[in-house]
Amino acid sequence: MADSTPLIEEAGFAGTDLERLREAPRKTHAPRILLLHGSLRTRSFSRLVNLEAARILTRLGAETRIYDPSAMPLPDDAEATHPKVAELREMVTWCEGMVWCSPERHGSMTGIMKAQIDWVPLALGAVRPTQGKTLAVMQVSGGSQSFNAVNQLRVLGRWMRMITIPNQSSVAKVFLEFDDNDRMKASSYYDRIVDVMEELIKFTWLTRDCADYLVDRYSERKETAEQLSQRVNQRVI
Ligand SMILES: Cc1cc2nc3c(=O)[nH]c(=O)nc-3n(C[C@H](O)[C@H](O)[C@H](O)COP(=O)(O)O)c2cc1C
Repeated sequence: MADSTPLIEEAGFAGTDLERLREAPRKTHAPRILLLHGSLRTRSFSRLVNLEAARILTRLGAETRIYDPSAMPLPDDAEATHPKVAELREMVTWCEGMVWCSPERHGSMTGIMKAQIDWVPLALGAVRPTQGKTLAVMQVSGGSQSFNAVNQLRVLGRWMRMITIPNQSSVAKVFLEFDDNDRMKASSYYDRIVDVMEELIKFTWLTRDCADYLVDRYSERKETAEQLSQRVNQRVI
């Protein structure tokens, strides 16, 4: 400890490197958004809310995919080569932003919601499937409006190093909000979902070209340099 040099001035790996940002090419394809829901029920309202969100996103110019968690094994109860796990990982790698919509069960997000995220590692070799990508969080409840699940989803988004947008949606007594054709009725809840999707698309347009830059960390550059250089090792540690 006595010889450590924790100051960035001495470590030499710090810097915002704005050139990298200026050189980032602008992508022009439709923003790619993956939607995950946290229920296996045949008439799942978290899935139906995501279907509405996907329609809105398509209208806003996005390309969307929805993952079906049915038959996905629990984390560590199968190899990562399991087709449902491979499918999830391929979709997460494909997307540039995500929507997570969980039911509230016993004051929490569902295990089905959490299990999907637990199958997604922070890094798959050189690929970082979630880091620097945008995220919108939503929840549905059978009872009065609450924010337990969205608050937990926000924590999870932070853990996956995602850019979780400020706006969010929580639909209370969700069973009252859909008609016989499984379409959402006009309401302030619906309008809020439009607001959230609009914000998600704006953040995705603004950040997707520099996602790698945004999640590039001083401490990780320092660690990499330490591993590569014995000389730096001796000076810094
Ligand atoms: C075991 C269980 C626990 C639940 N806990 C809550 C709860 O804590 N708060 C709430 O508002 N609704 C609760 N509900 C109602 C669900 O949020 C509601 O049925 C929701 O529509 C389920 O999502 P889904 O339609 O996507 O399956 C619970 C339902 C079940 C079956």
